[in-house]
Amino acid sequence: MKIIGIIFSLIFSLIISLNGQSWTEAQIDSLIDQMTIEEKIGQLTLFTSDWATTGPTIRENYLEDIRSGKAGNIFNAHTAAYNERLQKVAVEESRLGIPLLFGYDVIHGYKTIFPIPLAEAASWDLALIEKSARIAAEEATAGGLHWTFAPMVDIARDPRWGRIAEGAGEDVYLGTLIAGARVRGFQGEDLAAPNTLLACAKHYAAYGAAQGGRDYNTVDISRHTLWETYLPPFKACVDADVATFMTSFNDLDGVPASANTYLLKDILKGKWNFQGFVVSDYTSINEMVAHGYAPDNKAAAMYAFNAGLDMDMQGAVYYNHLEELTAQGNVSEKAIDASVKRILKMKNALGLFDDPYRYSNAGREERIILSEENRAAAREIARHSLVLLENKNQTLPLSNSDKIALIGPLADSPIDMLGSWHGSGQADDAISLVKAFGALNKDFTYEKGCEIEGMDSSGFAAAIDAARSADKIVMVAGEHFNMSGEAASRASIRIPKIQEHLLRRLVDLDKPVILVLINGRPLCLGWESENVDALLEAWQPGTMAGYAVTDVLFGDHNPSGKLPVTFPVDEGQIPLYYNMKSTGRPMDPNQKYTSKYLDAPNAPLYPFGYGLSYTAFEYSNPTVDKSEMTTSDTLTFSVTVTNTGSSSGHEIVQLYMHDLFASVTRPVKELKGFSKIFLEPGASKNVQFTLALEDLKYYNSELEKIAEPGDFLFGIGRDSNTELNLKVTLK
Ligand code: GLC
Repeated sequence: MKIIGIIFSLIFSLIISLNGQSWTEAQIDSLIDQMTIEEKIGQLTLFTSDWATTGPTIRENYLEDIRSGKAGNIFNAHTAAYNERLQKVAVEESRLGIPLLFGYDVIHGYKTIFPIPLAEAASWDLALIEKSARIAAEEATAGGLHWTFAPMVDIARDPRWGRIAEGAGEDVYLGTLIAGARVRGFQGEDLAAPNTLLACAKHYAAYGAAQGGRDYNTVDISRHTLWETYLPPFKACVDADVATFMTSFNDLDGVPASANTYLLKDILKGKWNFQGFVVSDYTSINEMVAHGYAPDNKAAAMYAFNAGLDMDMQGAVYYNHLEELTAQGNVSEKAIDASVKRILKMKNALGLFDDPYRYSNAGREERIILSEENRAAAREIARHSLVLLENKNQTLPLSNSDKIALIGPLADSPIDMLGSWHGSGQADDAISLVKAFGALNKDFTYEKGCEIEGMDSSGFAAAIDAARSADKIVMVAGEHFNMSGEAASRASIRIPKIQEHLLRRLVDLDKPVILVLINGRPLCLGWESENVDALLEAWQPGTMAGYAVTDVLFGDHNPSGKLPVTFPVDEGQIPLYYNMKSTGRPMDPNQKYTSKYLDAPNAPLYPFGYGLSYTAFEYSNPTVDKSEMTTSDTLTFSVTVTNTGSSSGHEIVQLYMHDLFASVTRPVKELKGFSKIFLEPGASKNVQFTLALEDLKYYNSELEKIAEPGDFLFGIGRDSNTELNLKVTLK
């Protein structure tokens, strides 16, 4: 057997050296024909390295599995040297020498960490978002990686759900555009280039609709809602040629996503003709037993594979049961060959058959990772992600002559600037506000005041003393980085009590108080919004956090971010998002029998699309070029935006629509366009949007995408509270 292995290995390396380029489909087919069933199943197996795990590790000694061809893919292994070492085991010690695929969670940066995805979404800047993913791919591939488990494209409308931090927020239109931008950023123009990564659309599907915002919880939604709200960002990934998909942990209408034939075969590989491969989430196949869907792992393996799930992440259920299932005729080897081919084609697309070591370039790693250019880009993107929520009496921007008391547990906490899923980003590389204030020669005194959580107020006195002798108070408050992200749902989404108590003491000093929020989700900020003078949502801004926040606080960058997700007044309002339905009894404060609460408003504290600027923008003369349209017409909208303030700045102009009557009730508003513009003081710009019939379509009860004759209202403005004052009738 050993001799045969050596012969195959020689033939294999001869093929590589002869054609010096990626393989043809026939060559891949020929390789599959030579593979044993064990080696085929190895290509369907993904194990974590023992470097870092994102969940319980089932197997640790994976080197033997690589040598025997029983593990063809590894995740959580990185750096050029470490991955080269593992690759050599696969290429030079296994019988067929098939290269490993190295995956990792490069969610918002590899070493240079960018703002969390929810923060980047607040920039509404598709070019910056794509650039962020591009730089992440540059660094990750320099670190020996081939594949990222991103973008996470789950629409999320429940801020109790910690993973809202990882996506693009609540809106389908914005989320769909951002999904495509992130895939293009990671995958670039050519997967064979050494600086491009396979992307992974996750978590398929509707993971963000977990009941109660409790992670991993049941998802029970209509197919109409699935198609209308949760699938479009995934379809955008397919349209952007995403290489892989990842199934979600949740069941969908009673069927776990990892065994969901409707999702995997009918939609993804069928209707959408997806040609990449599908990986499970971490042991999500095994979890069918806990779901009460499979009696044991062997059955789970059969259900998952036959539903169209190609690769098993960390569960070892394909590893342990697929050969027997094939021998028993429960799984066809032909189907296994098809899955193996999907995976080998992706390895081939990366150029790994041409040169398995092309991503292990230590010189490139040294040159690219955490470069000044990448840090500068991270600072710029973070600046654009910040959202100014309050600025009473123009408290901000601060002046360099201001003596500042910089207070709070998140003012000097580098790790918390990085947010969840910061991969191999290091706290030592992150810039806190204290560090930035010092480096930028601000006149400040820092006092922590208290911890992020707990009951210890012993630091209050020093903080209050510092505040007493300052002109203005900047309190940096919010969440620890692991209070959002995976397995981090919160029933109460408020600033932890100890921080609120300190803030109240600072407000009592009757000095200007600026509250800077470091958090991975919307928070309920009723008291804060009424009692502080300025409120800046900084999210978790990444490695360059301190500089970006300081740039905005002192006016070196005029904030332009707009919320990609609604901030409720109270948790009791959740789910709360801008494009809800009218209901048959729309809220009327003067009528008892209408849809409202006795003890809370219907309206949010801050709506989707909201964000202030240091300058002021005036909208005038909104028009549409026709009041009636046929199915072959387009609509052209325009509005004049004028910077009536005293500083230049960006404004995100938004176009909303309401389809007044339809065979399926429609949301009261839908974002249908946006444009980010820059204006000098006094300047004006005519902003235009063009819509076609496709933009007026929706899914009817038969899940057909249609547009129906009838009246539509449109509005152009600064956030989702925009008045809809332009009427068009579709004939
Ligand atoms: C986790 C996450 C998923 C991640 C995977 C690998 O459980 O759900 O988003 O990509 O495991 O780390």
